[in-house]
Amino acid sequence: MSTFLKRTHWCGELRREDVGCEVVINGWVHAVRKVGRISFVLVRDRTGVIQVVVGSRNPYYRVVEGLAPEDVVAVRGVVRARPPSQVNPELPTGEVEVELSELIVLSKAKPLPIPIFDPELMKTTSESVRLKYRYLDLRRPEMFFNLVSRARFLRTLRNSLDSRGFVEVETPYLARSTPEGARDFLVPSRLYPGRFYALTQSPQLFKQLLMIAGFERYYQFARCFRDEDPRADRQPEFTQLDIEMSFVTKEDVISLVEELMRETFAKTLNAELPDPLPRLTYSEALKKYGIDKPDIRFENLLEDGGEDLRVLLNAGSGESVRALRFGIGGRAAGAVREFIEGFLTHEDAIRRYYVIKGSGALLSNDESVGSELAKLLDVGVGEAVVVAVGDYVRTSEFLGGLRNALGRYLDLVRKDVFAMLWITEFPLFELNESGVLTPRHHPFTSPRPEDVSKLDVTPLDVIAQSYDLVLNGYEIGGGSIRINNRGLQEKIFTMLGLTIEEMYDRYGFLLEALDYGAPPHGGIAIGVDRLVAVALGHDSIREVIAFPKNKEMMDPMTGAPGKPPEEHLREIKWLKVLL
Ligand code: AMO
Repeated sequence: MSTFLKRTHWCGELRREDVGCEVVINGWVHAVRKVGRISFVLVRDRTGVIQVVVGSRNPYYRVVEGLAPEDVVAVRGVVRARPPSQVNPELPTGEVEVELSELIVLSKAKPLPIPIFDPELMKTTSESVRLKYRYLDLRRPEMFFNLVSRARFLRTLRNSLDSRGFVEVETPYLARSTPEGARDFLVPSRLYPGRFYALTQSPQLFKQLLMIAGFERYYQFARCFRDEDPRADRQPEFTQLDIEMSFVTKEDVISLVEELMRETFAKTLNAELPDPLPRLTYSEALKKYGIDKPDIRFENLLEDGGEDLRVLLNAGSGESVRALRFGIGGRAAGAVREFIEGFLTHEDAIRRYYVIKGSGALLSNDESVGSELAKLLDVGVGEAVVVAVGDYVRTSEFLGGLRNALGRYLDLVRKDVFAMLWITEFPLFELNESGVLTPRHHPFTSPRPEDVSKLDVTPLDVIAQSYDLVLNGYEIGGGSIRINNRGLQEKIFTMLGLTIEEMYDRYGFLLEALDYGAPPHGGIAIGVDRLVAVALGHDSIREVIAFPKNKEMMDPMTGAPGKPPEEHLREIKWLKVLL
């Protein structure tokens, strides 16, 4: 027997047509209000709110008086039309109300620690407090909407892939390292003390093995784990839509993803994406926008400094002088200066200058060149220019990152547009901070066939068969055609500094598999959290993840990461190490 009255109707769905019906609703007390001898209770469930009325002669009147916001209730009553003067046009259910005939209080609520239904106060509530009480934060309709939209995105993508013959396969999370440029999260093995599983940074190697296994078309919504410093668009665990196909070229993967994206944006957001999506090569992107994930919703292209500027800023012969010019709009020059200064703290390998001409004095970070700089660059009133001197890629990336951020800060971007594009023709390698050759994507990416001969001579000039998908200035996906030849794969590992022993210890299984009939294959992974966040207009992916980690990589609600019980540490033979 049911211990409570079960709903017959959802709160938010009652309309004039339901007048006269006896209904049962279940939900939370949203608000209680007393007018004279009548009490009004707004009851809320995930679909919305409905007003419940209780007169003072109703036997439940006293119980209603004792109700507090967020108590959980079951209400039986009859739907009736509100008197015309009481119709609330703001509320979808505003023409009707439920006259209460039975009330059960299913659970009492204490006053909430966060003002979830006061949007203004919520703006000033710290994110850590929101995350500590995430289950309350998620009661907000905005958060419910975000997660429902995410679910709709996933469903549409899944349906599209299913209809194209892709097979959904789950691959292990506990594995050997699958490197994607981050640190691994390690899980100690109890049965093999001193040994560890690595949580997969991506299913990369497994999906390649599925191609060798003959699956031809695979996908998976895979959780990925990367121990890297968190950012607004980065979480230590996140979800990828991971895709791999056999007997394909780069163009096949690109056109599949374009179809998927077009279908998903049309079905979930009623939005149209360009057909085909625009493309930029990596070097074009760097030249024009300074960055490989440009926000192309506004212009403000980077400029290269002329000879006068080079002389003024003492640029060496190998150094680039690049500039970003923009109007400061309605912003105060001081505020823009503060914004730019925030970017100057990051890195010292390049020299950076700015001049801002507001209504008052010229602002610059270097008085000795400020006014000369403004003259040379012809900076007008209401304009600012930021100049970077040094290595071409670093100066470009600095200005490109600033440009993307300024677009949002100065409202230069059109909010109603989805600027999705491809970046292609990436270099296969780059030099890391210590000057060591590292893969730009991952070590399984194939070079262009015509560039293989350059591997021994000018490896930094080798172009990869890889591609990134960018949306509104965020990298939302990346993939490549893979190496399906053992000799070439071994060569790349060797170039990356792996000894034969290391290569076989880490990737022996892949190298061996490449010997048993590996078809040409390639694929992509789309960052689902980023895709949904950007599509819904959020700057932080935490808004579309139910229980994310905070900026300090912790979960303020559960207290993760926590200290394991001693007993557990003893079992995995870690007690001595940690105590
Ligand atoms: P990549 O490392 O580029 O490629 O990842 C693919 C996409 O995943 C998203 N992403 C993240 N999202 C949130 N938090 C993070 N820490 C994070 N890191 C990455 C980005 C990114 O574009 N195996 C390859 C794919 C392939 O080659 O098929 C891979 O993982 O949106």
